[in-house]
Amino acid sequence: MSAAIKPFESIPVVPLPADYECELPGWIAQQALAHGPIFRVAYPWSGVAPVYLVGPEANRFVLHTGRAHFSHEQGWTPIIGPMLGQGVLNMDGVEHDRSRKLMNPGFTIAYMSRYLPIMARVIVDRTADWAARREVDLFAEMRRITFDIAAEALIGFRAGAEVDRMRQLFMTLLHQDFDPATTTRDEMIASFGAARRELFMALLQRIAERRAHPTDDILGMLVGARDEAGNALGDEAILGHVNILLVAGHETSTTMASWLLYLLATHPDYLARVRAELAALGGPDCDAPLGLDAIKALRILGNALSEAGRLWSPVASGPRGVVSDFAFGGYHVPAGVQARYSIVGGHWLPTIFANPERFDPDRFAAPREEDKKVPYALVPFGGGPRICIGVNFAQVEIKALAAHVLRAYDLEPAPDQAIAQLYTPTIGSPSGGIRVRARERAREMAGG
Ligand code: HEM
Repeated sequence: MSAAIKPFESIPVVPLPADYECELPGWIAQQALAHGPIFRVAYPWSGVAPVYLVGPEANRFVLHTGRAHFSHEQGWTPIIGPMLGQGVLNMDGVEHDRSRKLMNPGFTIAYMSRYLPIMARVIVDRTADWAARREVDLFAEMRRITFDIAAEALIGFRAGAEVDRMRQLFMTLLHQDFDPATTTRDEMIASFGAARRELFMALLQRIAERRAHPTDDILGMLVGARDEAGNALGDEAILGHVNILLVAGHETSTTMASWLLYLLATHPDYLARVRAELAALGGPDCDAPLGLDAIKALRILGNALSEAGRLWSPVASGPRGVVSDFAFGGYHVPAGVQARYSIVGGHWLPTIFANPERFDPDRFAAPREEDKKVPYALVPFGGGPRICIGVNFAQVEIKALAAHVLRAYDLEPAPDQAIAQLYTPTIGSPSGGIRVRARERAREMAGG
């Protein structure tokens, strides 16, 4: 070890505060300002203190230049649990690269025009009764919309009772809390086991159908894939991919879409500019679903989406296992420890983003372009070769959704609610809900 590189034991260790759920982005940014881009965060519940790497230079190292030192499998599998199996998110090496290459064609921006009609139909159907209801919870509504879209676009399940049931089963597997006051441990294990069996039976049935009748969605690509020896992927491998895609493909989009709509509803000046941009698209029917080129061209809405993702990033940090020793920020980090690049901490660094706690989408417009001053400053979708495979999917989906809702409705947040992004060390969501009243916009106003 070079004399200038300090040992692992001298990396500052800071305890995660008890109220961190609401304060995580600002707190991590403060620690980075105080200690530099590398420190350790001690989790009170386990005593474990992973290495945190924070800021653009750290992101560049973890995601690009130093990525060979890190395992995604060792980072993500302990967090999502072994239950869902393995997908592109929690694989390493050749296995990952082969799987990603197989699916990449289904996630290019051009391929999104194939999914857009599905997205448009689900969005219109799921939002049609909003005005008739006294209130809607944006977070719950977004979850239904994004799950319906992922289930149909990626694996060919048409929205309806069966997809609703699958969404509930995933929720049971991922979010059901164990309350020892009402449930015994055996009951909880039995309930998880039943949910898992029901979900996997439904998915395996669909996989078998697709083997018999291949299609051009992602599931079709998976069942049609052959390795060099001509072997197809087994059921377990396909199931793992499908599970991970369905989870990664809707949880995060739910959070980002909820915040985008809420932030626009509470920033009327910026909302007026988004609506003017939508109106400028013109055309005889201002309510017709937008095409892919129109969606891509929506810069004012796009900057608001980037800002929602910066301010309340759905993924708090990218977990990694360290597989070979490295030095970063003047410290030695040995193989075998856990590390994370903090997405939220980097997004709240005042040295990169002025007044980081403020919703200010113009920070991304010329001449400010705060995200472009240093590479890897804005990373809500990660970055480098393993950037989120669904980045195009999510951006097109959320812009299509926001465009429709903002043209159809005025959203008024309900009074007396504490809206907050609640974080675990890995993900965040407004899980307490965001209740709004939706009022239909008058037809002549709907253009602008
Ligand atoms: C707003 C929505 C989304 C956000 C904020 C988001 C965020 C992220 C982030 C931060 C990563 C990198 C994680 C890391 O570095 O450890 C990632 C990876 C990934 N995401 Fe997304 N994601 C979104 C939507 C989607 C969608 C729609 C899909 C699929 C349909 C998807 C599938 C994946 C997969 C498979 C990976 C792993 C890629 C790899 O390692 O090669 N995500 N996502």
